Parts: sequence; C-alpha cells; structure tokens
Amino acid sequence: MSHIPYDSLGPKLADQRIMLIGGAGFIGHNLALELARMGATVMIVDNLMVNSLIENSFVEEQDPVQRTAYRNFLNERFSLLRSGHVQLRNADARLLADLGRCFEEFDPTKVVHMAAIASAVDAKKEPGLAFDLQLITLRNTLELVRPKTDRINQVMFMSSSTVYGDFEGDSVDERAFPRPEGIYANAKFMGERLIRTYRTQYGLGTTVIRPSALYGERCISRRVSQMFIENALTGKPLLLEGGGDGRLDFTYIRDLVQGQVRALALHDGPDASNTFNLTFGNARTIADLAAVVKSIVPEAILEERPRAVDKPVRGTLSIERAQSVLGFEPEYGLEDGYRQYCEWYVDAWRRAQREANLA
Ligand SMILES: NC(=O)c1ccc[n+]([C@@H]2O[C@H](COP(=O)([O-])OP(=O)(O)OC[C@H]3O[C@@H](n4cnc5c(N)ncnc54)[C@H](O)[C@@H]3O)[C@@H](O)[C@H]2O)c1
Repeated sequence: MSHIPYDSLGPKLADQRIMLIGGAGFIGHNLALELARMGATVMIVDNLMVNSLIENSFVEEQDPVQRTAYRNFLNERFSLLRSGHVQLRNADARLLADLGRCFEEFDPTKVVHMAAIASAVDAKKEPGLAFDLQLITLRNTLELVRPKTDRINQVMFMSSSTVYGDFEGDSVDERAFPRPEGIYANAKFMGERLIRTYRTQYGLGTTVIRPSALYGERCISRRVSQMFIENALTGKPLLLEGGGDGRLDFTYIRDLVQGQVRALALHDGPDASNTFNLTFGNARTIADLAAVVKSIVPEAILEERPRAVDKPVRGTLSIERAQSVLGFEPEYGLEDGYRQYCEWYVDAWRRAQREANLA
C-alpha cells in the first residue's frame, strides 16, 4: 500500500495543461488517457511518423492479419483519445515554428517529451534520423520552454534504462554511473544532459524517467514481449538465445503510467529536478516470458539459439527512490500483467483473422 494514495493526486493535476510531444505512441496515448481521466487538460503533438497508421497501411510485405491487427490497435488508440477528450495536433517537433504554434495555442504548464525512434535496433539502422527525432525535437522543446519558465513548471524527458549500459551487478539505482552503448542509448544520455543543463542554466523544472522493457495493450513496437505472443499465434518459433537466460525488468504499461502520473503530480516546483527508474523492479528471464506464452498458447514452439556475443547484460532497476519520493507501487508481475496482455492479444489477433479473411 503506497504512502501517497493515488486518489489524492487528482486535485494536483486538475489545473494542469500537459503537452505530450510524441504522445500518439504506445506510452503517450496511455499516459494521455490517464492524465485526462484524472482531470488534467491534455494535448498530444505527434507527426505520426513512427509505429503509425501510415506505416501500417503501406508496407507492401506485411501479412494481412498483422496489418489488420495493428491498424485496429491504432484506430482504437484514436477513438479512446477522442472519447477521453484528449486534443491531438499533427505536427513535426523537428520544426520549431510548427511546434511553437502548438505551444502558443495550448499554453502548457507541463511538457512530456517522448518523440524518438523508440528502439535501439531501429535507431542503429538510421542513426541520423534517430538523432534528429530524439534530440532536434528536444532542442526545440527546451527552446520553447526556456522563455516560459514562470508558466511551465516541469519538463519530463522519457529516457531509457539503456543509459546504464551493461549492468555490473544484479541491480542498478539512479546513482550508477551511466555507460551507454550505441546510438539510441547515447542520444538518450545526451538528452538527459541537455535537460539538466537547461535546469542549471535557466531554472527549468525537470524530471528524467528511465523505463525498461514495456509491454501492454495496443503496442505495435514489436519488442520481444509482443513478438513472442505473435509468433506463438502464427506458428513461428520463440527464439531463446543462450537458453533464454537473459534478464530484463519487464514492466506493464499501467505501472509505468502510474509512476509518470505520480512524478507529474508531485513535482516540487519550477526549479526542482529528479531522475527515476520506473519499472516493475524485478528482472525476469526471457525463458520466464516464454513460459507465460506457452501456458496460454500450448502449441507455441520454443527454440534455443546460441547467445549473441554483443548481447547487452541487463537486470533489475532499483525503484527504491520512486517508492520513497513518489509512493510508486507497481502492481503487475509477469504472471498477472503479461498473462493479461497475452490473453488480450489472442482475442485481438483472432478478431483480425476474421476481418482479414472477410476482406
Ligand atoms: N516502450 C519502451 O519499452 C520504452 C522503454 C524505454 C524508453 N522508451 C522511450 O519512451 C518514449 C515513447 O516510447 P513508445 O514506446 O511510446 O514509442 P512509440 O514509437 O510508440 O512512440 C513514439 C512517438 O513519437 C512520435 N514522433 C517521432 N518523431 C516525431 C517528431 N519529429 N515529431 C512529433 N512526433 C514524433 C512517433 O510518431 C510516435 O507516435 C520514447 O522516447 C522511447 O525511447 C520506451
């Protein structure tokens, strides 16, 4: 039981106007819905460039059932946002003038930055684009906030657990020295440095969030948690490198959103600053993930593979700071959160199969 009841946060958010840049994505739309439900006024600014309807309507080689399923997930996001009274603006945050118009129109009191190519593997394929989507958009955000620090009390930056690099022990806390590897993790670390610099130089209130291995309804980012259940449903093997002993701190989207809401509601004033790991707080193996899938789709094929030599070494992110400062209490371990998600995925996939066969 949290020492800060979640219900007590609503009044702190009710007069806030929160802009989510890159907010039509997996994390953003879930956060937008919850913030609006709690009484905040919310605007999403997104150019619908990554993991979007456009991508999923025009990829030639995409399987028809997968295309139908992903389009359903995306359409569902939009209809939930519409009925949740979240405003949406289609604008590219790389363009200062376009983003500036959104700031003028909405007049935010808090800004959450989440635009990115949200995958280390994809970012490696297009480093220039990854850099622009993460850092040019962040630069524009910070430059628009800078003259308005009397009005905008907080910028939240969605960083990543990858800033830690290979874990040295079983668990890392926020004081561990970052040793990011690769384009994605280094751009995240640069983003963290940039927003902290704006805090010290210009008095900006800042919050850095480091999540890990998220899963949940309506995600189309094709991370291992999604691909395992989808592969099981399509007769493809679930590949277990090194027997599946790699560990990740898998986190259900509802738990991350609970933590983000707490960090937005409990922010301590315009020049406050903090960094939080927001994860379930207990790394589990890829084999554990596969076991949940197998219990739901018994015909799932599990296939062992040799371990890749450059595989990152990960583990648990300590959530003690978020627990003590924010009263963060994640609720969903793999056996309930991931199971619930897989059951939802099976239903959604069966529906897409019926629709694709009718088309
Ligand atoms: N999902 C995870 O497991 C995870 C883990 C750690 C960190 N993160 C970070 O959290 C953030 C959100 O991740 P997500 O999973 O929701 O990703 P996502 O791909 O679902 O959403 C990213 C959104 O950013 C938008 N975007 C990209 N470039 C833009 C631009 N120039 N202007 C406006 N919008 C733009 C995309 O269209 C997309 O809707 C990212 O910064 C990601 O790196 C995610």
